[in-house]
Amino acid sequence: MDADFRGRDIISIRDFNRGEIEFILDKALEMRQGHAPLLAGRILGLLFFEPSTRTRLSFEVAMKRLGGDVVGFSDSQLTSITKGESLSDTIKTVEAYTDIIVIRHSREGAARLAAEASKKPVINAGDGPNQHPTQTLLDLFTIRKEFGRLDVKVTLMGDLKYGRTVHSLAYALAMFDAEIDLVSPPGLEMPEEVITDLKAMGAEVSVSNRLDISKAQVLYVTRIQKERFPDPEEYAKVRGAYKLTLDSLKDARSDLIILHPLPRVQEIASEIDATKHAKYFDQVANGVPVRMAVLALVTGAIE
Ligand code: CP
Repeated sequence: MDADFRGRDIISIRDFNRGEIEFILDKALEMRQGHAPLLAGRILGLLFFEPSTRTRLSFEVAMKRLGGDVVGFSDSQLTSITKGESLSDTIKTVEAYTDIIVIRHSREGAARLAAEASKKPVINAGDGPNQHPTQTLLDLFTIRKEFGRLDVKVTLMGDLKYGRTVHSLAYALAMFDAEIDLVSPPGLEMPEEVITDLKAMGAEVSVSNRLDISKAQVLYVTRIQKERFPDPEEYAKVRGAYKLTLDSLKDARSDLIILHPLPRVQEIASEIDATKHAKYFDQVANGVPVRMAVLALVTGAIE
């Protein structure tokens, strides 16, 4: 494949075409099979303005597995932002110390702004409710590993209004001709403009407030994004609106896989973890090779 990833920012999954995504997934598979210290001497800046467990740690592990090192913060209260420094100046500073920048921020568009301020590659690790492209890559990696293809029947269930992982993933699934069922509690539906985009991309999309598990090959569950609700009373109305239990699985296909970007709160009962359907901790593990591939590609360490 003739794609040049060197120096590229990764802000939205829509920055890639289907061939480029497949290429990254192939490179991630190679990373799982072994790798040289391709990024020895390079430094990754991890700027987390919002909490994270998986994304931050898996980027850190990915960089270290490739022989590189990391600097950064997971609490911006301890940085000069609290003295009034702008995001743009913060990025220009980190750019001077590092080779790649990973940023998570509560504000939609913050990663794009960071990319505009930096000559070094910037990777969006989640910008508000907007996008989380490397999560999507590891979601696709997991689906492809299980089914050998991506044109499968996927149900996205949960907070489709504020969940950035489902916004990113829906666009990618549409690129790969997946059938997409959108299931959410009333008030947390997928934004209309996203549905319009998906249909314009040729995707088969259905919308419901009730889960029909019998259709799904992939059930992708998300938590309700409490932190994004402008009004706590609105959150109280939907809290605990859905929960997957063993009983919910009685009409499931035998090949159903259940994914979740995590963290989960209460939307998947822990009794499901021991079933053959639960693949969310495989997803967690897949974050490392996928992010290794991304880091190696944007630095030009692999082509
Ligand atoms: N999936 C995900 O983004 O998890 P973290 O918030 O723990 O990084």
